[in-house]
Amino acid sequence: MGERALVTGGAGFIGSNLIAYLLRERPDWDVVCFDKLTYAGNLANLRLAEGNPRFTFVRGDVASSENVHALFAEHSFTFVFHLAAETHVDRSIQDAAPFVRTNLVGTAVLLEAARAAGVARFVHMSTDEVYGSIPAGSDESFDESSPLRPRNPYSATKAGADLLCQSYVTTFEMPVTIARPTNNYGSYQFPEKFLPLMITNLIEGRPIPIYGSGENLRDWLYVEDTCRALLMMAEKAEPGAIYNVAADELIPNIELARRVLSLMGQGPEMLRHVKDRPGHDFCYRLNAQRIREELGFTPSVGLDEGLSRVVAWYRENESWWREIKTGEYVKYFGRQYPEIAGGSQ
Ligand code: NAD
Ligand code: TYD
Repeated sequence: MGERALVTGGAGFIGSNLIAYLLRERPDWDVVCFDKLTYAGNLANLRLAEGNPRFTFVRGDVASSENVHALFAEHSFTFVFHLAAETHVDRSIQDAAPFVRTNLVGTAVLLEAARAAGVARFVHMSTDEVYGSIPAGSDESFDESSPLRPRNPYSATKAGADLLCQSYVTTFEMPVTIARPTNNYGSYQFPEKFLPLMITNLIEGRPIPIYGSGENLRDWLYVEDTCRALLMMAEKAEPGAIYNVAADELIPNIELARRVLSLMGQGPEMLRHVKDRPGHDFCYRLNAQRIREELGFTPSVGLDEGLSRVVAWYRENESWWREIKTGEYVKYFGRQYPEIAGGSQ
């Protein structure tokens, strides 16, 4: 008999890619998406899943114990992939409250429901940002035992969620596995994030905003590689294990912008240095040896190939991101999916 997987935050960027990936790679699995549909959640991201009899969408809030209780009362899950989160660092600097609610309270509520239901595996989506920043000039890297030193409200709430997960492993022997991937990019990424912002701005004839000097380093991981790592973790990892997931494609922001300009046939006059992000983390560099050695995971899409794919995707899917940039995508909300019973959101 097939398994049933829950993906929280499945109407967002990585979650929607994960749902498409699971439906394709595990043809006997049922997949349930549970999502609040915040500004970052978009039912248009689920068009590959819609109509599939093995796919169900449930609208609800991970931080609402009534919503989550109703979800677990209706479905019995083998796997939980917990991706629902507030995710944009700049927004967390403007207002940390939704980050505390969703990333911390939401993770606590979901852990408790999954523990009570006895799920076989809970994969928690964390981030490289929980380790904090590596200063300029240092070649340090973080492995899974490095201390958590988050420096902005987003990464602080993600680190808190990691600790909650670890507490459920030690206290309740719950089979939680934590993924800490680097910056993802790919299709359906909300255009407030750096890569889709650059590509869509250039198509619109607008410049690329570069925070500060642009020397900050990020490692860019293609989203399908992340999805493959998450599935491996669900099926093969030891309970309680933590895995860094990296592409080993570390590059300064300004250099990434130059590559995008060159791919799109545009010049350096489209670069605009703007005021830096407060407390801007300089670099996240991960040692991802553990997932390679224990699960056999290596990334398969290099940055050159991935950038070509992603530029092509945003060129071919203009209506998707134009609706977002003009706010029109909210028309999908509640179109055909009733809200889950058991509490307001
Ligand atoms: P996203 O912002 O594109 O999507 C987040 C999704 O979560 C949206 O569909 C939103 O509606 C949903 N959501 C938000 N609050 C909710 C709530 N209270 N209840 C239910 N659903 C809610 O995010 P993403 O980039 O796809 O990131 C997914 C996960 O991966 C997050 O946990 C993030 O911290 C982590 N992560 C992301 C990256 C990256 O580069 N994007 C890198 C490492 C880790
Ligand atoms: P972002 O996509 O917000 O991811 P994160 O902050 O989680 O790494 O930003 C990636 C990098 O790009 C980060 O160093 C900040 C920088 N950046 C810019 O230079 N300009 C922008 O307009 C944005 C959104 C980000």
